[in-house]
Amino acid sequence: MLFVIGVAGPSAAGKSSVVERIVSAIGSHQCALLCLDSFYHGLPPGCDPLEYDFDSPNAFDFESCAAAIKELALGKSVSLQSYDYVTHQRCGPEITLPSGTEVLILEGILTFYHEKVRELLHLKVFVDEDADVCLCRRIQRDVVQRGRSVESVLAQYEKTVKPALDNFINPQKRLADIIIQRGVENVIAIDLLVKHIAVKLEQRGLNRLYTNLHEMPLTGQV
Ligand code: CTP
Repeated sequence: MLFVIGVAGPSAAGKSSVVERIVSAIGSHQCALLCLDSFYHGLPPGCDPLEYDFDSPNAFDFESCAAAIKELALGKSVSLQSYDYVTHQRCGPEITLPSGTEVLILEGILTFYHEKVRELLHLKVFVDEDADVCLCRRIQRDVVQRGRSVESVLAQYEKTVKPALDNFINPQKRLADIIIQRGVENVIAIDLLVKHIAVKLEQRGLNRLYTNLHEMPLTGQV
């Protein structure tokens, strides 16, 4: 039976790095990654990206996301077109999640927001970080990787990113099973999380696949 881990949190909070750490502990074998951004509705034709709200729940196709998770849970494979942040369309390289996937990690700003997706998650992890740290990282990332200007990143932050943080993203904390402050720097929280995942996989008889989990030493003192 598919075990689904949802990872939510503010933009540029370090969600991807926490996910990488979990995957390296579990082992990439049979562990698939799905990004909620792969379910963005494309930017409507003629719409100015500076006027569009990419942080609103309305920007995402949660129904298709839930359908993809259900397909994987049935043991089927799923193919998706990845999202391109430069063209604002689902036109990036195709991603295929293989049939027989046993652990799925779904990552995104609004992973717990929609009931139809949320009810498919077995574990909900919220990665938290100070808003100013997120903004600094976001400026660097969007300028270098997403082809944006500093002015446009700041205008977007004020207009849509910060309101969504307050209205939709941070309220998900009350739905989380675990809140990880300071992202991958928080080695104790990540160790505890990985140990918990190991227990859950063991209960499902999946421990044979995840030898890394048993070999992983605790890196912090509790
Ligand atoms: N976004 C954008 N332009 C688009 C689509 C999305 O600027 N065409 C922005 C949204 O404003 C949203 C962010 O992308 O806030 C979502 O990506 P984010 O969570 O920042 O990316 P990750 O790399 O997953 O974050 P993290 O650093 O936490 O790993």
